[in-house]
Amino acid sequence: MHINSKLPNVGTTIFTVMSALATEHKAVNLGQGFPDYQMSEELIALVNDVMKKGFNQYVPMQGYLPLREVLAEKIQSLYTTIVNPNTQITITPGGTYAIYTALTTVLQPGDEVIIFEPAYDSYIPNVEINGAIPVLIDLKFPDYKIDWQKVKQKINAKTRMIMLNSPHNPTGAVLGEEDIQQLRSIVKGTNIFILSDEVYEHLIFDGLLHQSILRYPDLMERSFVCFSFGKVYHCTGWKLGYCVSSPELMKEFRKVHQFNCFSCHTPSQVALAEFIKNKDSYLSLGTFMQEKRDHFQQLMQQTKFEPLPSRGSYFQCYKYDRISDESDKDLAIRLTKEKAVATIPVSVFYKAGTDNKVLRFCFAKKKETLEAAVERLIKL
Ligand SMILES: Cc1ncc(COP(=O)(O)O)c(C=O)c1O
Repeated sequence: MHINSKLPNVGTTIFTVMSALATEHKAVNLGQGFPDYQMSEELIALVNDVMKKGFNQYVPMQGYLPLREVLAEKIQSLYTTIVNPNTQITITPGGTYAIYTALTTVLQPGDEVIIFEPAYDSYIPNVEINGAIPVLIDLKFPDYKIDWQKVKQKINAKTRMIMLNSPHNPTGAVLGEEDIQQLRSIVKGTNIFILSDEVYEHLIFDGLLHQSILRYPDLMERSFVCFSFGKVYHCTGWKLGYCVSSPELMKEFRKVHQFNCFSCHTPSQVALAEFIKNKDSYLSLGTFMQEKRDHFQQLMQQTKFEPLPSRGSYFQCYKYDRISDESDKDLAIRLTKEKAVATIPVSVFYKAGTDNKVLRFCFAKKKETLEAAVERLIKL
C-alpha cells in the first residue's frame, strides 16, 4: 500500500523528542506548556455532579447553549462587543481544532497565509494540508515585534489570511494598540481574513491590556478568534475551546465542524457554563501567572541565563550566550541529559530553524518544580 503524504515534511516533533528524553532522564520538565498543579476542585466536582445528573448525551453541534450565552456575556463585559451566542460562537475540542477548522473554512489551494515566526507548531501544517502556502515573516529579534513594513511588502492578490497570536507562544510577546492600527490599515478594503489565536487571553502581565480582536467590530467581521478552556482553567487535557466570528463566517465554519467533530464533551460544557459565572475564575489568572513568572525570573537571576521580556502566556525565553555557543537544540538536549532539566529550543518554531540561541521555559509549574529546575541550572 502506498500513501501519498499530505504532509511530507512533518516528522517527529522536538516536543515528542524532548518529552521522551525528559522521561528517560527523569528531568524536571519545563519544556511542554502545561501546568503541573491541580485544577480547580470545584470545577472537577461540578463535572462529576452534572454527569450524575444525566448530562451525558450529545449537545447541539454549536455547543451547549447556556455555555455560549455566558461566553457572550463575558465577551461583552471584557471587550464591550456584543456577539450573538446563537450565530457567532461555536464550542470546539480545543483551540488547535478551532484554528484548523477556521483555516479549512476559508483556504483554497494556492492561497497565501501570512504567519509570523517563531510560530506555534500547528500553523504551518494546518495551512499546507489545505493546499495553501505559508508566507513566513520573522518577528523582530529580540523583542519579537511585528515588522508591519514587511507585512505590507508580502501582501498581494493571493493573500487570503493573516495569523496572529497574542499573548504569544513561544516568546511571551503581546500585541499593542499600534499593532491593531497597522493591521486595520493593511486589511481595510481587502478580502483578507484574520485568524487570531488568543488562547492565552487572560495570561497577560504588568497591567497590559489584551488587544483582543473582539474589541474591534470592524476587524471581527473578517476574523476567526480562537480560545482554549484548557489554558484558562489549568486543564489542557480537557481539549475544549471555542471560536468566535461574524455570523456569515461562522455559518461556513460550522459546515466544516459538523462533519468532523460534530459536538464536544457535554459534561465539561455544562459544568463550565456554571463555573464561568464566577468572573474571578478568569480575572484572577493574570496575577496568578505573573507571580509565577516573577518567582521564576527571580530564581533564574542566580544563573547565567539572560531573560527576554515575557509579557504574557506560560513562557519565558532566555538567551544563553554567557553559558555556551552550542546550537539551541544541542544545549536543550544536553541540559536534559546532564542537568535533568527539559526546555524547548526556540529554533524549532521556525521552518528554517533560525537559531537566535534562545531557550523557552514554561513557568506554569508548582513553586517546587521551578525551584528544583533552577537549582540544577545554577552551576552552569
Ligand atoms: C499558541 C497556542 N495556540 C493554541 C494552543 C492549543 O490549545 P488547545 O490545547 O486548546 O488546543 C496552544 C497550546 O499550547 C498554544 O500555545
